Amino acid sequence: MRIFVPYPTYMQTVIEQIKEEIQKQFETLEGSHDWFHIQRVYQNALSICEEEPTADKTIVAVLALVHDISDHKLNGGKLNQGSREAKLFLNKLGAPTDLINKVAPLVDEISFKGAQVSDQMSCLEAKIVQDADRLDAIGAIGIARAFAYGGSKNRPLYDPQSKPESHTDFKAYSSAKSHTVNHFYEKLLLLKDRMHTTKGKRLAEERHEFMRNFLTQFYKEWNADS
Ligand code: ADP
Ligand code: NI
Repeated sequence: MRIFVPYPTYMQTVIEQIKEEIQKQFETLEGSHDWFHIQRVYQNALSICEEEPTADKTIVAVLALVHDISDHKLNGGKLNQGSREAKLFLNKLGAPTDLINKVAPLVDEISFKGAQVSDQMSCLEAKIVQDADRLDAIGAIGIARAFAYGGSKNRPLYDPQSKPESHTDFKAYSSAKSHTVNHFYEKLLLLKDRMHTTKGKRLAEERHEFMRNFLTQFYKEWNADS
């Protein structure tokens, strides 16, 4: 799909270089966090921008591309390393210093950190990218990603004995290891009410409903209800 690119033309080369490098880093990762996830977040983010005329599209585009650069799920469990890594990465590519200084600090704001940890967003651009990332965590793709991730960690699909938890800090949330259905209650079903933008909220409704229907059907089949 070809999408309208709303940032200034002088930034296009820089953005194309960032895309190329990020694609190389993410291409071989498993389906829940691969290059296609980054591409979808980038497209979701630019689509949200169509209804957010005051947003800086360059910041949104670059932040969407680098938002998972040091995800705790992929870096051996280190938390809040994204801003540091993004700064090193963008510096190495020769991105403009003012762009690096604006984007890098926002990277650590994007991740979900637990049911009881409130999101601390410092600007509209970070809110847009967080909404875009969260749209890709819910709905049909969200379901597929959750089970792909659980599968990659050898976790059960479901275990009725093990109940979901409501995490009060990032460390507890990020070290949770229970079955994948719990993840719906610990994160995915909470996202709809934590969206920031009008378009994000609208798109989240349908995806949320799809997950609820999925879970109803899942329990029906699990319990062999006819
Ligand atoms: P965030 O940036 O908020 O940490 P990401 O978009 O990087 O989120 O990744 C979230 C995705 O990771 C979810 O869509 C889900 O597929 C997967 N995931 C994370 N933790 C779990 C878990 N405990 N069980 C299943 N999937 C998980
Ligand atoms: Ni992500």
